[in-house]
Amino acid sequence: MKNLHHVSIILVAIAMTAWACQKDNTEASLPTPDLSQSHDYLNMKLPANISPFINLAVSFPNYNNSENPLTNDGATLGRVLFYDGHLSKNNLISCGSCHVQAKGFADPVAFSTGFKFGKTTRNSMSIANMSLQRNYFWDRRASNLEEQVMMPVQNHVEMGIEKLGVLPQKLAQVPYYPALFEAAFGDEQVTEERISFALAQYLRSMVSGNSRYDEGIANDFSNFTELEKMGMQLFTDWNSRAGCANCHGGVLFDGWNAENIGLDEDYTDLGEGDGRFKVPSLRNVAVTAPYMHDGRFNTLEEVVEHYNSGVKMNSGLSWALIDSTGQGARRLHLTDFEKKALVAFLKTLTDEQYLKDPKFSDPFR
Ligand code: HEC
Ligand code: HEC
Repeated sequence: MKNLHHVSIILVAIAMTAWACQKDNTEASLPTPDLSQSHDYLNMKLPANISPFINLAVSFPNYNNSENPLTNDGATLGRVLFYDGHLSKNNLISCGSCHVQAKGFADPVAFSTGFKFGKTTRNSMSIANMSLQRNYFWDRRASNLEEQVMMPVQNHVEMGIEKLGVLPQKLAQVPYYPALFEAAFGDEQVTEERISFALAQYLRSMVSGNSRYDEGIANDFSNFTELEKMGMQLFTDWNSRAGCANCHGGVLFDGWNAENIGLDEDYTDLGEGDGRFKVPSLRNVAVTAPYMHDGRFNTLEEVVEHYNSGVKMNSGLSWALIDSTGQGARRLHLTDFEKKALVAFLKTLTDEQYLKDPKFSDPFR
């Protein structure tokens, strides 16, 4: 009897140890964000050549949303949400899975992998200076940052939370969120609107304007090599043979209209219609390969060669790429030296600080 009693005590002890270990394990396996370092999200280095455009930029509805003012606590919460797998149906995929900081927040593969291992049908886009842009996605279907950020969460390939209503409840049960929501919005309540507001604040803080090109603006490009200067002239001069700035203009080297650049004779993905796609910003473009809406080009050299000799005539082709007869696609006849110069110029648009800035890094690592 006595022995049996002993045995049962031992069994209970073993069971309790096992339970305790298991509990420890589950707690250890739930990553918590490391927010020990605080960051100033309000301090942004705007692109240097923005001054002539600042009034225009500030008038963009996404530059500032008075309903959702940018705060450090709001952007901090947004950063945690951006990197948190809990925003996908099976906890596997975060925004950061397809938007990688070292790659200018693009994905180094042509098509990204979603939560059920399905592939996206378009190339992930780089993220920088969203507040200075008016339309989002390759087909520009979104124009409001607060709405845009919730679209990937619902997307059936990307993150799969098709009924957004379940997300607040889910996040409210994750131990680190109540305090983060309280800091950002005054109380612990998790709502769809607060999730979208925090993500939008974080994206608004993601400003990139610290490239060698921006330095050059300040010092008359004395930091540029002759090759880079020649590439800049070819790129930015509207009358140059390259004519890139006809579409990639302004502070971000992006465009106001959607354009068809003659990638194919017959487009399978029509984009906004007629094969027209958003003219993406070229800031950080040296690190955002592969290129185009379908990731078809792996290098900037291939992109330049496309514009030089590869543009295909099609019914939607943009006027800037049609030759003077109006019948065929334009050929630029660039020399090897000019092609090298264009690539060298594009490489000056990289903001190294942005690519490693701890305030935009994954707090779960
Ligand atoms: C599975 C991969 C994947 C995930 C996860 C993902 N994205 Fe994306 N993202 C993409 C792709 C692909 C596109 C282009 C889609 C299109 O144009 O149809 C894109 C486009 C964007 C754009 C538009 C950029 C521009 O220049 O117009 C923004 C902003 C963005 N994503 C933010 C987010 C946020 C915020 C999250 C998390 C809530 C997220 N993404 C999650 C793949 C992903
Ligand atoms: C007619 C307007 C137009 C002209 C002119 C033009 N581009 Fe583009 N560019 C676009 C559009 C639109 C895209 C996206 C097309 C797509 O994915 O279908 C693009 C994409 C790119 C990309 C890939 C960006 C990425 O993130 O995938 C690079 C690099 C680029 N262009 C460089 C240039 C250079 C260099 C020139 C001059 C030789 C030039 N562009 C001329 C409209 C234009």
